[in-house]
Amino acid sequence: MGKKLITVKLNGRAVEKAVEPRTLLIHFLREDCQLTGAHIGCDTSHCGACTVDIDGRSVKSCTHLAIQCDGSDVQTVEGLANAGVLHAVQEGFYKEHGLQCGFCTPGMLMRAYRFLQENPDPTESEVRMGMSGNLCRCTGYQNIVKAVLYAAAKLRETQKEAA
Ligand code: FES
Ligand code: FES
Repeated sequence: MGKKLITVKLNGRAVEKAVEPRTLLIHFLREDCQLTGAHIGCDTSHCGACTVDIDGRSVKSCTHLAIQCDGSDVQTVEGLANAGVLHAVQEGFYKEHGLQCGFCTPGMLMRAYRFLQENPDPTESEVRMGMSGNLCRCTGYQNIVKAVLYAAAKLRETQKEAA
């Protein structure tokens, strides 16, 4: 089957590209769009290193076809910071040392970004449950949980100031 032209709103910018129907979203992002933040860890939907946000949902891009994103709003870790200012989840991982090797981190950040919109004031166990689709082989998770709680508090504070 030939290539199909798709249009994706990628980190706020319209991107139009021809893709093979079999192209996975992770390969579209990394190879066609040169957005290498999302990582390939397992390729079987287990580790979450490839997590991105599609139309307001966390999606593992290793098991999603690029053509399924035609007309969608896709956000990757590259779109989190705004004009050089870190997003609260990035600041949280930095301040609480929520990473070691960093391989899982882009997926963790994107899941935390969506999770905190689903649950802006989570308990520690809700953070653990909300982030449970993302695996980390280095940190033991303690600082990842602290980082997400830091970001939750920061986002609530920012919203209060803006109200
Ligand atoms: Fe997609 Fe592991 S690479 S879940
Ligand atoms: Fe190494 Fe999470 S920091 S896998």
